[in-house]
Amino acid sequence: MKALVLSGGMGLRLRPFSHSRPKQLIPLANKPVLVHVIEELRAMDVTDIGIVVGDRPEKIADLLGDGSELGVRLTYIPQEAPCGLAHCVAIARDFLADDDFVMYLGDNVLTSGVADIAEEFRNNRPAAELVVHKVADPRAFGVAEVDAEGRVLRLVEKPEHPVSDLAVVGVYFFTPAIHEAVAAIEASARGELEITDAIQWLVTQGAEVTARTYSGFWKDAGRVEDVLACNRELLDRLKPSVCGEVDADSELIGAVVVEEGARVVRSRIIGPAIVGAGALVEDSSVGPHTAAGRDCLLSGVDVSDTIVLEGASVRDVGPVRASVIGREASVSRSAAPEGPHQLIVGDHSRIEVAA
Ligand code: TTP
Repeated sequence: MKALVLSGGMGLRLRPFSHSRPKQLIPLANKPVLVHVIEELRAMDVTDIGIVVGDRPEKIADLLGDGSELGVRLTYIPQEAPCGLAHCVAIARDFLADDDFVMYLGDNVLTSGVADIAEEFRNNRPAAELVVHKVADPRAFGVAEVDAEGRVLRLVEKPEHPVSDLAVVGVYFFTPAIHEAVAAIEASARGELEITDAIQWLVTQGAEVTARTYSGFWKDAGRVEDVLACNRELLDRLKPSVCGEVDADSELIGAVVVEEGARVVRSRIIGPAIVGAGALVEDSSVGPHTAAGRDCLLSGVDVSDTIVLEGASVRDVGPVRASVIGREASVSRSAAPEGPHQLIVGDHSRIEVAA
């Protein structure tokens, strides 16, 4: 089985972080989402991976190269414009040839894995096998109506009155039957070739389309709130390790990782938390649920439930919560404590300051 990972798209909901890099590179527990995805594919014994890339493909290629460091073989498939998930299947036709494949949305996080569902697909080979997840409010999702044997009867995109609570997760298993379906459908009202329409086409033609329930954590890391939720979930699985330096006046509580070359000075790190390689944390309280990236500086701060990206600095400011600080960004206290805020904020950023 091959894999097709979708890593194009606009990422509008993840601005400003998607301005400078594809959203699939945002780090969760200090590791880009795409790396989590590739590790999950490898756990399914899938190593021949096509990766659809949109604008700034070089950022992804710089990070992943040919995939050999992650134990996989990557083929890059450029998509000129985000014309839909089924369009990705169409442009990957040569790479996919007549093999079965798993299509994995490059921003989806499933912490419990779907290796068992992959195994079942390999054994039974229905035309398509969907992964579904019970959700409280299905109206924001693609929803599958499924019979008692797990056969899909109908797919409905963002239904106003859902008849099922099974949301379709961004991991799909296909035999080559999907190619005929993709060729048969037309663009939707929003101008995209929808994978939902292609799968519905298979159902209408009487092909076997099944759904299997995944009940672990699932989210697409599409908005900042979701990125923070994924970060928390992945940090909850952190195995503690200390390679960097922690001075005698510091305290590590719970699952804490201090990466190589990092320094923790006169600080309290409350796990789960990671201090990235080369970072400096001094006179601070950090965590829980905080990932400080490579080479960042946290000085005189109290930070929790936060992601600080590479090279950013946060100095002498009051409690920082539920925040994402961009690469090389600087947050500091004004020289005049009662003075005005000075804000140099990039496009599409969001700032909430205490009154
Ligand atoms: P979405 O999150 O649905 O779309 P998006 O990336 O454009 O995000 P936003 O709505 O915030 O603008 O896409 C799901 C995944 O599929 C994501 O990893 C991007 C990828 N994708 C492609 O590779 N090509 C496409 O044509 C589309 C629509 C998405």
